Amino acid sequence: MELKIVPGDSKYLTDCKEAYKNSELGEAYSPSDDALSFRLLEGMGKREIYVALDKSDRCIGYIWIALRGAFYHFPYCPGLAVRKEYRGRGVGTALLEHYEKAGFEYSDRIFILVSDFNLKARKLYERLGYKQVGLLPDFFKEGIAEHILMKKE
Ligand SMILES: CC(C)(COP(=O)(O)OP(=O)(O)OC[C@H]1O[C@@H](n2cnc3c(N)ncnc32)[C@H](O)[C@@H]1OP(=O)(O)O)[C@@H](O)C(=O)NCCC(=O)NCCS
Repeated sequence: MELKIVPGDSKYLTDCKEAYKNSELGEAYSPSDDALSFRLLEGMGKREIYVALDKSDRCIGYIWIALRGAFYHFPYCPGLAVRKEYRGRGVGTALLEHYEKAGFEYSDRIFILVSDFNLKARKLYERLGYKQVGLLPDFFKEGIAEHILMKKE
């Protein structure tokens, strides 16, 4: 699919929120609309969020790249989501490639968390070479464990 990946902007906020909310992840954590807006606008304000645009400049997903987000030392991806109707067409992989390019310019290892129930996302990360290096039980929410995944250059 033809894509452009550009810095995020508040004009894409509604699409980014929809991508997140309309997923198992959004259902499990169900942040309020205000809380989600606040968080994504923070990432956009820091210029850490990048969005994928299709050839008509529609926003179809985003990735958040915090270069020192893991332990104030290594790159971490605090958010990745693709709008439901576009999933399974390579957009997530393209956004992760963007993360890896920026991350590996900065460090020899990069991190992401994946919730224990999010098996499809986990499979995608494993296919791309991420390996589990830790587990955070009851981390963001009681009863859900976050797997710490790391990829080395
Ligand atoms: C995870 C996610 C970003 C992947 O984006 P994507 O554009 O569907 O990814 P791609 O098309 O590049 O890759 C598809 C792969 O991801 C897997 N996948 C993960 N979630 C999927 C979904 N909901 N629908 C379709 N495929 C999904 C597929 O199994 C596929 O694997 P395969 O290529 O081995 O068959 C996307 O599914 C999504 O936004 N999910 C909801 C939010 C989320 O869970 N984010 C991850 C937070 S850790």
